Amino acid sequence: MPDPDNTGFAQVRTAIFPVAGMGTRFLPATKATPKELLPVLDRPLIQFAIDEARAAGVERMIFVSHPDKGAIERYVRADEDLCATLRERGKHKLAAELDDHAIDPSQEDVRFVMQPEPLGLGHAVLCAAEDALPGPVAVILPDDLILGGRGALAEMIEAYSFMNRAHLVATMEVADEDVSKYGILSVTGRNGPVLMADGMVEKPAPEDAPSRQAVVGRYVLDASIFDDLRGLPPGAGGEIQLTDAIAKGLERVTLGGFRFSGQRYDCGSKPGMLQATLAYAAGQEEYRDVLNAFQPTLLAAE
Ligand code: UTP
Repeated sequence: MPDPDNTGFAQVRTAIFPVAGMGTRFLPATKATPKELLPVLDRPLIQFAIDEARAAGVERMIFVSHPDKGAIERYVRADEDLCATLRERGKHKLAAELDDHAIDPSQEDVRFVMQPEPLGLGHAVLCAAEDALPGPVAVILPDDLILGGRGALAEMIEAYSFMNRAHLVATMEVADEDVSKYGILSVTGRNGPVLMADGMVEKPAPEDAPSRQAVVGRYVLDASIFDDLRGLPPGAGGEIQLTDAIAKGLERVTLGGFRFSGQRYDCGSKPGMLQATLAYAAGQEEYRDVLNAFQPTLLAAE
């Protein structure tokens, strides 16, 4: 909904983190550990997502979780006993790092809501409706890790503030043979990193794809998304799909794509997680020797 000052669209004050899924692609690792807590080296996926939302300056974070995934809330909230023990043992730097990562309830507004059954991403977002602050909302999928750049969500929210699009979805260009794995945007124009679009096609065959701009896990959505999600029937895979609600809203509101500057990794899949881990390690001096020593092994195996 446009803001009263007519300076663009209203401020994005809420970030929703859907974390209630079953993570079946990552079994057996996800049998007892939520997918969102799987680490890229030492950092759980959820931490990258929280840091991205912090960099974007949102006021409230809403985690849509599942009753069996209590470990996520335990991770997100501060553990004062653990920090005290670390300090007693002289591990002050580690304790300070844990403090920085954890949510500080005196400074940050965080809510946990439950999605009792994983009925789909759209349903998970709808579970956050009552707790969302007025105005558009950001949705961030922690298993879509975006490294590099200054934070995909920060970039998107900045673009959203001046682009005349009600829904903005993160997009990246994919190869022809990969279009059938994604939602693909029907692009009608372009202004820098923002693409104007008039629709989205879910997992098209390459010959039917309207473009090669694939939708990935960051969204800034007009608050009308909640109305469009209410009463939406299950779509692909029998799940209530966020993309169906976005498509439904296009009768009334506009859609754009945003080409973020970082590199995205599908950490919900094993190859994606491996790529992310290697890329993350390659960016840190302390892992150079390990990676260099391993490379000849890989070449020899070819
Ligand atoms: P995915 O479809 O990648 O997650 O959803 P999944 O269903 O857990 O994974 P697989 O396909 O079985 O391996 C992307 C994000 O949306 C959340 C997931 O937790 C993940 O963070 N999600 C998905 C929900 O919160 N609720 C749902 O009903 C579905």
